[in-house]
Amino acid sequence: MASGRLDRWVSQTTELSRKEAGILIRRGEIQVNGEVVKKAAAQIPDGAEVFWGDDLLDVAPPIYLMMHKPAGLVCANRDGLYSTVIDLLPPEWSRDVHIVGRLDLDTTGLLLMTDDGDWSHRVSSPRRAVGKVYEVSLADPLVSSAENAFADGIKLDGEEKLTRPAVLQRIDDQHVTVTLFEGRYHQVKRMFAALGNKVETLHRSQIGQLQLDADLKPGAWRELTPDEIELATQSLQVPDAD
Ligand code: URA
Repeated sequence: MASGRLDRWVSQTTELSRKEAGILIRRGEIQVNGEVVKKAAAQIPDGAEVFWGDDLLDVAPPIYLMMHKPAGLVCANRDGLYSTVIDLLPPEWSRDVHIVGRLDLDTTGLLLMTDDGDWSHRVSSPRRAVGKVYEVSLADPLVSSAENAFADGIKLDGEEKLTRPAVLQRIDDQHVTVTLFEGRYHQVKRMFAALGNKVETLHRSQIGQLQLDADLKPGAWRELTPDEIELATQSLQVPDAD
């Protein structure tokens, strides 16, 4: 089993909060490899057996969730001003998950959450270039050179390095699909701003080969199936833009 802090371990494997787990530990109710340990911050070695009375506290399996993010919620664990996407989850899920690839306040669509740091790295690491697909509506008709500009790389305001080659597929002059292989701050909006246009609505429909479940209403979420966990890490095959 993986190593980690004792209070985190106890709270992850029971219904207890981290604080309640700390109280239990300080009371001497938790044993690690047959010894009482009273320090909440104690590090648990790999393969340790942690007991609460007669109960072996086995680590819960990792959490993998997809949500249909609605507009108006912030992608953060906490925010002083707005409700967050994490607020939509029950406490047993929300305590430990982090968001894989944030979306802006007004962006909707596929959002992944997990407590598995290795998996989120595989999904979002720019080195692996798992594609992310966005459906975009634009304020103005798109210039004819836009497909080439996206394929060649665009210089964003305030940055030196061109964007990585991206795929723009035109549905009509004000509706497009964009596939990105990196995730810079407000990237889609800034790419269109660089072409003199403005994004009106932005919706993420796919990450890697995983599509947003069409049955999930905005604000709804569910666990990923084992196949979906893999699909999210698999590179997209994008048809040529022309
Ligand atoms: N690009 C943006 O500009 N915003 C998002 O929310 C995601 C990608």
